[in-house]
Order: sequence, then structure tokens, then C-alpha cells
Amino acid sequence: MRLLFIGDIVGSLGRGTLQRLLPELKRKYQPTFTVVNGENAAGGRGINLKIARKFFEWGVQGITLGNHTWDNKEIFDFIDEEKKMVRPANFPKGTPGLGYTFLKSNNKELAVINLQGRTFLPSIDCPFRKADEILQIIGNRTKYILVDFHGEATSEKLAMGWYLDGRVSAVVGTHTHVQTSDARILPKGTAYITDVGMVGSYDGILGMEKEAVIKKFITQLPVRFDVVEKGSSQLNAVVIQLSPETGQATQIEKIHIVEEVPSL
Ligand SMILES: [Fe+2]
Ligand SMILES: [Fe+2]
Repeated sequence: MRLLFIGDIVGSLGRGTLQRLLPELKRKYQPTFTVVNGENAAGGRGINLKIARKFFEWGVQGITLGNHTWDNKEIFDFIDEEKKMVRPANFPKGTPGLGYTFLKSNNKELAVINLQGRTFLPSIDCPFRKADEILQIIGNRTKYILVDFHGEATSEKLAMGWYLDGRVSAVVGTHTHVQTSDARILPKGTAYITDVGMVGSYDGILGMEKEAVIKKFITQLPVRFDVVEKGSSQLNAVVIQLSPETGQATQIEKIHIVEEVPSL
């Protein structure tokens, strides 16, 4: 049982890279499930139905989201019907969409839980208590449980990893768009990485045009951030091996690919 989890896909450059590299990744790693974070897929902000369908068409089985979930208003037209896409489960009660879901592949079932941190992000419900609540509901339904913890602070993400160690198969961090070098298996069998990293521009800043971001830091004036749509691109992901007996992780491998995208 193997999971391929790919970090935040940013804009058309990120989508193109995913489309180009996914067949080779699937051939090489033969994942039972492929899950991507899609919160920045539509122009860097949110996701729409057309893009979500494309991801599924390309062989993605599940999509997680984050703080940009609502940025593309089209999401409201399909989030309630889309059972293979999750937004952070600790968003306020009554929020549209699912916070966790079950994916099926090869007679196996994977629970996917999306949670969002509260440090340097909006003060939503407690992600730790929400995790407890969901794990109680899932019970023994499946031993394969993947958590995408969408957070800014490394401490909060590590805390979630240790809090859920032995209770879920993997806690993978998203949101900061930079892959961290701390991938490991925690003592009780949970695979962990603070941030998987992004898919999209390699020469931008978190996928955005760097000039605008630099200007913002220097001037503190309002600046419009645009997604980098051309140039070199990167794909960051993790492959996690899970024991069919216990659902625990036995291996986590980081993937970091940089590709020169030919200019049109
Ligand atoms: Fe993101
Ligand atoms: Fe985010």
C-alpha cells in the first residue's frame, strides 16, 4: 500500500507540471492512492470544477485544500457534490464541503482528513480536538488514514505529528510551499513531514512573481501578487509506504523535481 501526496499546485504552470510528471511518477512508484493539495490551483487562489475534474482525469484520487479554499467563488457550485475533495475540517460548523472523506482503490480504503493550523492563520476551531473527533467517528473503518495539516508554524505542525503519532498513517504538512528536510517515521508509526512543498514556479516566491513580493517587503504598500505562469517549474511530493497489517508507515521518501519548461 503506497501513497503519493503532492503539495500545493500553484496556477497553470503547476498544473502543467503535474500533468507532465504524474504519469512517470505513477509508473515509478505505483501508488495505490494519489492525493494533491489544490488550494492554489486556479490562478494561485482556490480551485474550480474544471480543474478538479482535470486532476481526477490525470489519475489523482483525492484533493485537499486550505486557507485559499473560498478564493475562487466557483467552489460553492460544486464543493457539496464533490466527495473526493476535502477542505479543512476545523472550519466553522455549517461550512460547505467535507472535512474528511474516504477514497477507494484496489479494494483498499483511505481516509483523508484535512486540518488547518491556527498560528499566523485565522483563529478557527481547534485542529487537535477536531482530529480527535474525526478519528473517533472513523473508528475501525480503515487503518489507512492520511492527514493534510495545512499550517504556517513548524511548531504547530510538529505538534500535530506527535499528537497523532500511532493514530494515523501519515501527517503531511502543506501551505508554506517550501519542502522541509524532516521527513521521518515517528516512533509509533506515523509518517511525518512539516511541509511537502509546492508544484509550480521554481524562480518565483511561493509560486508568485518575485518582483511584486520583494516590492511588498520593501515598501509595505499594497501590491498585487500574480502567479508565475512560465519558466522553470518544480514538483514536490512524498511517497509513503504503509504496512497492510497495521496501516502504519514503514517508509517516507521525498520527491523534488525541477524542470525547465520550454517557452511557447
Ligand atoms: Fe498553498
Ligand atoms: Fe495555504
